[in-house]
Amino acid sequence: MKHLKTAVISLMAVALMFTAAYGATSAERGKALFNDPKAFGATGETSCATCHPNGKGLEASGKWLKRSFVTPGAVWLKLQDAINFCIIMANKGKAIDPRSQDMKDVVSYIRQVSRENTEPPAGYDFNE
Ligand code: HEC
Repeated sequence: MKHLKTAVISLMAVALMFTAAYGATSAERGKALFNDPKAFGATGETSCATCHPNGKGLEASGKWLKRSFVTPGAVWLKLQDAINFCIIMANKGKAIDPRSQDMKDVVSYIRQVSRENTEPPAGYDFNE
């Protein structure tokens, strides 16, 4: 009985460590969406990565001081609006709620792409 208890507790500990090591982070989920041509209700032909392979062209988009975003033919004050523009016009998908988890995940991925250059100040909330 004692051995069984030890075994069960050990198994739970291993499961927890596995989740910590392999559970997808927001940026990882965002990257998967970014690379998926069927994300955002798109037709399956074009993903974000088709034009921005590995986040190409978005190196400055996740920087905390950036306050305007340029897409073909338009300038946006919010990163989320620029993303939705590309979703509709480039991926041929449907705009997503700026407050949805999918949007947070894509934004997290774009911030990760930019992070090498700038760290945001502590407590700064990018979602506002
Ligand atoms: C058909 C090609 C294409 C696809 C697909 C595409 N984009 Fe873009 N995107 C562009 C171009 C071109 C620009 C404008 C770049 C410029 O003029 O500097 C741009 C600009 C942007 C910007 C603003 C960059 C900035 O900081 O000013 C963001 C953010 C962005 N795209 C995100 C995305 C995301 C997320 C996706 C997938 C949902 C996506 N794009 C799909 C071509 C594309």
